Amino acid sequence: MAGIDTESPVPKYYQLKEIIRDMIEKEELRAGQAIPSEREFCERYGISRMTARQAIMELVNEGLLYREQGRGTFVAEKKLQQEAARLTSFTQDMRDRGMRPSSRVLELEMEPAGPVVARMLGVDRGIRIVRLRRVRDADGEPMALETSHLLYEVAKDVLDVDLSKRSLYEELGKVGVRMSRAEQSYEAGLVNEAEAEHLGVPAGSPALLIERITFDQNDRPFEYVKSTYRADRYRVTTVLYPQ
Ligand code: GLP
Repeated sequence: MAGIDTESPVPKYYQLKEIIRDMIEKEELRAGQAIPSEREFCERYGISRMTARQAIMELVNEGLLYREQGRGTFVAEKKLQQEAARLTSFTQDMRDRGMRPSSRVLELEMEPAGPVVARMLGVDRGIRIVRLRRVRDADGEPMALETSHLLYEVAKDVLDVDLSKRSLYEELGKVGVRMSRAEQSYEAGLVNEAEAEHLGVPAGSPALLIERITFDQNDRPFEYVKSTYRADRYRVTTVLYPQ
């Protein structure tokens, strides 16, 4: 069994990550199986609780492990393609990370498309748009602020649904809207005054700004979204393959 080399310049938490990764690779730990507790790792490798916690936390963030509240930490299913570029909703994204999603609806308005939204969605200005602004929480803590601009034509059937409790994408799925792809960009930024209050962090805190245009099964862009994620809480991982 590989151990932790205390002489090595490689941080101990990183070594533990590699050990766990290896156990999964060799199927000593299988998908759905609980991993040893932090305490067991500490005893087995003579490391501190903090070291074990960091290793496990990073593997959860990378999607290799997932947590279930009150039950423990488990090995995730291998989802290679999905990890690479998965088109998920916030709800699913949080569930995959072992967290409980919820939302607070700040605005739900019908309005004519302005120049930016019209350009992003490839429609004429003035076309009817639904603007949905939500604080997105994970385990009851604010994670992101998200403003979606949806084609009214597509969103009209889900407007009666309580979007503070339900997933927009799941509801759209129920009325036959299938997502075929999305174009997404990430940018570093800062939380502004107006956002700070909703996100529960001081203005000027680091943020990850995410923009997405989502296409339906007919390759029609139906959603343009701008989100501000708390950079202290949220991290994106991507698997890269050689060409
Ligand atoms: C993510 C996407 C948004 C999308 C949202 C739907 O956050 N970036 O573009 O609108 O998910 O979330 P849900 O289905 O959880 O309501």
